[in-house]
Parts: sequence; C-alpha cells; structure tokens
Amino acid sequence: MIRLGVNIDHVATVRQARKTTEPDPVWAAAMAELGGADQITIHLREDRRHIQDRDVEILSQTVNVKLNLECACEDEMLTIACRTGPDQVCLVPESREEITTEGGLDVLTNRERVSKSIKMLQQKGIFVSLFIDPDEAQITAAAELGAEAVELHTGAYANARTPNDIQSQLDQLYLACNMVGETPLRLHAGHGLTYSNVVPVTRIDGMEELNIGHSLIARSLFVGMENAVREMKQLINS
Ligand code: PXP
Repeated sequence: MIRLGVNIDHVATVRQARKTTEPDPVWAAAMAELGGADQITIHLREDRRHIQDRDVEILSQTVNVKLNLECACEDEMLTIACRTGPDQVCLVPESREEITTEGGLDVLTNRERVSKSIKMLQQKGIFVSLFIDPDEAQITAAAELGAEAVELHTGAYANARTPNDIQSQLDQLYLACNMVGETPLRLHAGHGLTYSNVVPVTRIDGMEELNIGHSLIARSLFVGMENAVREMKQLINS
C-alpha cells in the first residue's frame, strides 16, 4: 500500500486571497482524513503565502494521521518544526519568487546546512525526508547525510508533454528510484502529480509515499474533499 499525503496548502491559498478565516485548512485536514488520507502535508513558507503559523500549531494537535511539514533549512522554520513536532519534516528549497517549489533541494552545495538541519530534527525524534531531483549525485549525498527518506521531485515528469519526453522523464525517475533502493533511504515522490499522470509512478518498486496537493484540492472544489481523496487513494493502490 502506498501512503497518500494530502497537501492542503491551497486550501490556505484561497483563505489568504482574502486574508479571512475561511476555508480553514484545519477542516480540510479532517475531511481528508475521512476520505482516507494517510498523511496531511503542509508547507510553511517564509513569506506565509498560504499556511500560517497558527495552522501548524493547530494541525500539530489535531491531525490524527501523520503530519508532514515541508520547510526550508532556515533557523526560523526549524525552530517551529522542533517545537510543534510533526511526524515528518520534508526539507525543501525555497525562493520567494517561485510560484511553487520549482526544483529539488541541492544537497551537494548546501551539505553543511542540510546536515545540521537533519541532525537538529532527528534529535527531536522527527523523521527527515529530503525533496530532491531524481539525480544520482543528490541521492548519494542524501544517503551520506543520514536522511531517512527522499521525496523525488516528479515535476519534470508531470510537465513533459510529448510521449517521448514523458517516457524519458519516467525512465530517469525509474533509474533514480532504483538507486534509492540501493541505499537505506525510504522512497517518496511528489509534485505535479494528478489523477491522469499518477499511475506510472505508483508502479515503481519500493514507492512508499506520494504527496499530492494542487490536483486533489482542485478536484475537491467539485466533488468535495472526502471524495477527491478517496478517488486518489483508489487510483494509487489500484
Ligand atoms: N511535495 C513537495 C515537497 C512540494 O513542495 C509540493 C508542493 O508544495 C508537493 C509535494 C505537492 O505538489 P502539487 O501541489 O503539485 O501536487
């Protein structure tokens, strides 16, 4: 069974469009759990464009499945993570200008900082995953630094449009997943996954967790959160 992490950031995006109190991501998390979510995923960004500190505080007390907090390797975020104690932290890169997380964390050039962050979180008993591109050097570095898991960035696959490009991005992903299988790292994936493109990723040997946000929240507008989650769960374990 592959775990489904439901990323509820964009529920908060709608709320922040009016800086009001609705829709509340805390409600969304509860509905996602009812639909069968195995995990709730949130990204606390430095610019607070969607998830707010209050959300992290409340969700850390109310989520009954696993809580996965995505954050940058910044002192402010790491302090919040250590205080609220999510089950898992996924370390991601972050730049203010990007629309969404556009590339994986560069573990090679940020070795010191990533290593320090991993140790700090692990000392609090938090499981640490690194969001990286499906790239051999990044996987090797993630294993060397002692992360527990990697979440491979599926954005290049999701953005591919021609059959050839889709196949070549999938091949690259398969290759990277095989490499992860030769390390102690657990295998997760996410970004840009939709109801139409997720199935080939679920066929990958060793895949344990998928984190999906935008497509699922978009569908929930029309069918409701519970149904949207249930449909995705059925797809990924079909
Ligand atoms: N995984 C990570 C590490 C992310 O940063 C994001 C986007 O916040 C996702 C998964 C979900 O991506 P999407 O919203 O495209 O499904």
